[in-house]
Amino acid sequence: MSDDSQHRPLRTFGRIKSRPIKPRQAALFDTLMPQVQLPDPRSGPLDPAALMPGAAEVWLEIGFGGGEHLAAQAARHPGVLMIGCEPFLNGVASALRHIEEGGLKNVRLHPDDARDVIAALPLASLDRVLILFPDPWHKARHNKRRLLNDDTARDLADRLKPGGQLRFVTDWHDYAEWALERLDRTPGLMRIGDTADWHAAPPDHVVTRYEEKKLGDTAPIFLDYEKRV
Ligand SMILES: C[S@@+](CC[C@H](N)C(=O)[O-])C[C@H]1O[C@@H](n2cnc3c(N)ncnc32)[C@H](O)[C@@H]1O
Repeated sequence: MSDDSQHRPLRTFGRIKSRPIKPRQAALFDTLMPQVQLPDPRSGPLDPAALMPGAAEVWLEIGFGGGEHLAAQAARHPGVLMIGCEPFLNGVASALRHIEEGGLKNVRLHPDDARDVIAALPLASLDRVLILFPDPWHKARHNKRRLLNDDTARDLADRLKPGGQLRFVTDWHDYAEWALERLDRTPGLMRIGDTADWHAAPPDHVVTRYEEKKLGDTAPIFLDYEKRV
């Protein structure tokens, strides 16, 4: 996606393509993608009930990378509609392969900026939001590109149902503190757990590909929040 300077001058993600996509994965863009792609969120509101009638819950994963976590959670929770957003096309190709290999019927993808999906979702429509190892943008002059800021925190809180949960995970210490400060001051969000044990992975966490690379400056830090009315 190119920068849309009309309403969003700053990109929160880096490259959208790296190595050539393998032919088998490229073919999935023609065969599987039309079945799982979300309607264009810029064209109008999204109705989760229409995306998967009868879904028990609706989860949103922002920046799913290669889709390993998204696919694992979708397999664990077949009754849950899993919406995944990721502009990095090699990652989308990988996710399509996971969806095909797992025979997953409950995943829907938006191969672009999650902020458009968030804006198009109804208020109080999400049960869970997962932001796992977002691009750290750790140089001070790049901090403004961070996905988590007061605006996205508020928009996500507004889209969580009462009792819904948001998980933010990073292995960059200053991003954890940045996120903690902003999420703590977001109306309606209440932190679950204690910063004393913020390195303890929650039991339902699935290790991600980025996490395995250990590129950050600390062990993963988990911040879980609940939406209170
Ligand atoms: C560091 S990677 C981590 C990927 C994956 N969550 C993992 O842990 O393996 C962060 C990902 O977030 C994606 N991303 C950044 N900004 C985004 C946005 N606004 N909407 C959706 N995805 C975004 C990037 O393209 C990148 O693939």
